Amino acid sequence: MGEKTFYVTTPIYYVNAKPHLGHAYTTLVVDTLKKFKRQRGVDAFFLTGTDEHGINIERAAEAKGLSVRRHVDQVVDEFKAAFERLGVEYDRWIRTIDPHHEESVQKLWRVLDERGHIYKGSYEGWFCGYCNEFKDVDERQPATDDGPTCPIHERPLDRIAEESYFFKLSAFQQPLLDLYESRPEFVQPDVRRNEVISFVSGGLEDISISRVSVKWGIPVPDDPNHTIYVWFDALTNYISALGWGNHRYQDFDKYWPALHMVGKDILRFHAVYWPAFLMGAGIELPRTVFVHGMLLRGGQKMGKTLGNAIQLDVLHRHFTNDQIRYYLLREVAFGQDGEVTYQGLIDRSNSDLADGLGNLASRTLTMIRNYFSGVPPRPVSDQNADAADVTLQIAESKRRFDGEFDALNFSRALEAAWAGIARVDKFISDKQPWKLARDPSARPELESVLATAYEALRHLVLLVAPALPVTSREIWSQMGLDGDPLRLDPNEATWGEALEGSSTVDRISPAFPKLDKEKIMAEIENETATPVVEGAKQQESAAEQAISVAPESAAPPTAQVITIDDFVKVELRAATVLEAERVPKADKLLRLVVDLGEAQPRQILAGIAQHYAPEDVVGRKIIVVSNLAPRKLRGLESNGMLLAASVGEDGRPVLATFTEDVPNGARLK
Ligand code: MSP
Repeated sequence: MGEKTFYVTTPIYYVNAKPHLGHAYTTLVVDTLKKFKRQRGVDAFFLTGTDEHGINIERAAEAKGLSVRRHVDQVVDEFKAAFERLGVEYDRWIRTIDPHHEESVQKLWRVLDERGHIYKGSYEGWFCGYCNEFKDVDERQPATDDGPTCPIHERPLDRIAEESYFFKLSAFQQPLLDLYESRPEFVQPDVRRNEVISFVSGGLEDISISRVSVKWGIPVPDDPNHTIYVWFDALTNYISALGWGNHRYQDFDKYWPALHMVGKDILRFHAVYWPAFLMGAGIELPRTVFVHGMLLRGGQKMGKTLGNAIQLDVLHRHFTNDQIRYYLLREVAFGQDGEVTYQGLIDRSNSDLADGLGNLASRTLTMIRNYFSGVPPRPVSDQNADAADVTLQIAESKRRFDGEFDALNFSRALEAAWAGIARVDKFISDKQPWKLARDPSARPELESVLATAYEALRHLVLLVAPALPVTSREIWSQMGLDGDPLRLDPNEATWGEALEGSSTVDRISPAFPKLDKEKIMAEIENETATPVVEGAKQQESAAEQAISVAPESAAPPTAQVITIDDFVKVELRAATVLEAERVPKADKLLRLVVDLGEAQPRQILAGIAQHYAPEDVVGRKIIVVSNLAPRKLRGLESNGMLLAASVGEDGRPVLATFTEDVPNGARLK
């Protein structure tokens, strides 16, 4: 018996910036998953919302000259409008300023306090108002005139010394390790699970969970001078939204525990703090924290800080919702980082949607209209071998699609559906129904071919509906079929059943227009302030960086000229970082374990720790000098060197990468 209810959440979004494609990513993925579950008859509940407390929200309001309340209301409206525009159907929107949420946060605090997990102490440390966290010594960059800076935001840290309440996180080290051990599915994918295990194994310190210096937040119960730490507040949204600790809703028993979908930048909060709070309070833990990678632009995380985000209004001017949704699901292997480009979006839309599904639909329906006055022929019971093979392939696509989707491998699920599309296309090309139509004696065969194509299309449209909600309905209606494909379980659809009815094809229009790449790229370039450097151009520059500017030996402008024979001695290969950790007592070094497509992963030491946190590099595609003689650093052997550009006066390393999918071990020439 399958599951009856399914609860899935996105992180709640900070309201200090406009929504961009990075935010839309998690939300679209979760929305697609919800549609998939609902289509299969599961009572799926999808929560999203906004994280509205904290010092950086206050600052953002101040910068706009607005009251905090007006500012947050405005940005929340923008987020809601952005998600609605993308066709997202969430079930509940939580705001951390909702009174019922505030009630639950205080309730959770009281429960933890009563159970002895909270104490009052004093805290002095360097605090980043943009990350909303105190920074450990090894996380800070070297001091500038303004004092130490945040390695992520490159802004000065605030020195904060204040009375604070602490949560006894240290007491949860062993229970957390036991959790990761006994429930491997708790943190997924495995690379993130390993990262968390290694972090927790290194020891946990108690965490400060209140601030007297921050006013915009939820007061600590019975001590209103203190404001509850924003992450304590924010994480509680996942249960307050269901009614835990408040009387607004009664959905907790029905839907909890959750599948939390989060980006890798907020892994530690979800996989360490959150289960510790819940264990402390005696609340059942989430089912899974599934950690996805970052959308990258030019190899860097897309976001506000770097100003490299793809803006949603630009996307909407040139692409439909389904093109955007499909591209993100198909292009980026869920769990890994993925480069996104306008060119890639155009190419995928043209090849997979216009030439793939769209073409299959219009050629099938056009022939049915032309040869059968729009009435789809009935499938024959004694199918010939080719038609039977198509039926089998569709069944196989459906089986694989569901398996991959349930495992959150969206890209592979879609690949399976497209294998079905390719099979039907081939079947039509082989059978050449346009020739059969000219020969009256071939009428039964023509009927059989088009009945098979129509029926295969019907199953495929049902299958891809969660990923293409608008166009699947459109094709469905052009097929003359009743009902909503998003509400019909593909696994309950049997071969031939539709044709018992009286569907008629009369209106046919291409479901996916073919996009004019040159024209769209030129328009986007005009609309965006920064030039759109993508594809070939970007690859070229990445290759240039990769070859010429390794951090430890940056080539001076008058670099010595070398021959091609010199160059070919250097073996450069693509690799993926599997694990990363700081090297104790070495501020600059990260120890990486990288997959170079060899039998065993290799260990490489890289002098990038002051600019990249371990969690920033795990899962990234990098370029490695793979034939460098091994050398020892701090007693550890390094087997190769990664490539990075050296930027600015202080030689800040920026990792070289690829803008397209490249297998590990591929050689750069
Ligand atoms: N408010 C916190 C989350 C609290 S959850 C209890 C927060 N907000 S955020 O707005 O900064 O980020 C929300 C989510 O958006 C994160 O999962 C983050 O990973 C995701 N993304 C932001 N930029 C992204 C990309 N460039 N790519 C993929 N996801 C990105 O953190």
